[in-house]
Amino acid sequence: MTEDEIDRLRALMEWEGERTAPPDGFPELPDMPAARYTSAEYYELEQKHIFRKSWLFAGHLDEIPERGCYMRWNNAGDPIVIVHGMDGEVRAFYNTCRHRGAPVVTEDRGKAPRLMCGYHNWTYKTDGTLVGVPERQDFPPDFDMSCRSLIPVRCEMLGNVIFVNFDDGAMPLTQWLGPLVDEWEEFAFDKVRLAARYSFDLNCNWKVAMEANMEVYHVPFIHPDTVAPLVDPKRNLNTMYPNGHARMVAPPPRTTDREHVRAVDSPPEWKQIETVGEIGRTCTQSYTLFPNWVSPLSNYFVPPIVFWPTSLTTTRIELVTMALDWGKENSGTPAPDLWTVPDESSSNGRQMSPIILEDTQFGEAIQQSMQSDAFRSVPLSYQEARIYSFHQSCDRMIGIENVPEELRVAQVIDDSWIWPNDPRVEQMETVRKVTRQAAE
Ligand code: FES
Ligand SMILES: [Fe+2]
Repeated sequence: MTEDEIDRLRALMEWEGERTAPPDGFPELPDMPAARYTSAEYYELEQKHIFRKSWLFAGHLDEIPERGCYMRWNNAGDPIVIVHGMDGEVRAFYNTCRHRGAPVVTEDRGKAPRLMCGYHNWTYKTDGTLVGVPERQDFPPDFDMSCRSLIPVRCEMLGNVIFVNFDDGAMPLTQWLGPLVDEWEEFAFDKVRLAARYSFDLNCNWKVAMEANMEVYHVPFIHPDTVAPLVDPKRNLNTMYPNGHARMVAPPPRTTDREHVRAVDSPPEWKQIETVGEIGRTCTQSYTLFPNWVSPLSNYFVPPIVFWPTSLTTTRIELVTMALDWGKENSGTPAPDLWTVPDESSSNGRQMSPIILEDTQFGEAIQQSMQSDAFRSVPLSYQEARIYSFHQSCDRMIGIENVPEELRVAQVIDDSWIWPNDPRVEQMETVRKVTRQAAE
């Protein structure tokens, strides 16, 4: 980030803190239809058009570190295997044998130079090519093995982070990410290791769970002791990007002294990502990566929280921490884990951290309310515009004409508010000029 960009972001955050109304020209956000969270029809549309066409977080190279390593990945529903090929390429395939559909791998993780289906031992190279069929002579003489490779799924990486996309025609990952590719460069996606990855099930629609991480309006009320000392919600600046992505950035409250921030936010034993610039070091910034990833990024962590719909009313939340090298497995230094804490009584030995418990505490009750007659529609404030914009992007991804009219959100946030456009810059510059003139 250049000095000018840092200066502009800082000025915009101050301007946000001082404004007494939403920015000039910012649209009033119409209520969102309640049924977006409860309609089976809308859920089907999300599944078909959003989760089948977007780039989705699948994993980290550390999970398949060597050639021949593979991992199962079922978070988007279909059974997928992600393979670190013998040629060094990372690829994804349906974990579905081309013979009669048995899985070609049956363990969550493994390593083998070939993938062999356990049912009749059809064997595939790590690039998916079918190379072995027992009793080959019993199939027709012209049986063409070359057209029975494993079915691939698009798979691309950002640094060490693996993404998949079920849509063969999808744009490349870097194009999907757009300006985030440059903005994230300082966070060293190519150097961070996978430190922790746990999942928990929640009884609410995936959007209910995710939206708790898409606004800071709630910070003083549900996070008085955890996030509130680090984030000044009044000076929060939201930016919307193409393809549905977004960012929030906010400084700590003026009343928080820097030492406190450092104590809470900057554990001295964890290595810093040296390339992270001033904003990443001194403010809280969090990115929504459409459709289901939210992640603060700092000079210590790349810690995405990922929301997977498991049904209309249930969600799997994945809590991931990536960080710079913290030492060898048995060095005695525990792997950093931003989002979970030890809990002997739970099945995976971990529990969600206090911040995540605060954020998820209302999910189930909200879902129950949403299914009652009391829940009519959702009014959102300017500070919650990231949520509204996210819903606009959902409808656009589905195809607005495919969304029943009563379920749509109006596309009121137009391109003039989407990066690189930002009418607030000019409004902020005007205020600054007036202030400067008054001071002279
Ligand atoms: S189903 Fe895989 S070899 Fe028969
Ligand atoms: Fe929160």
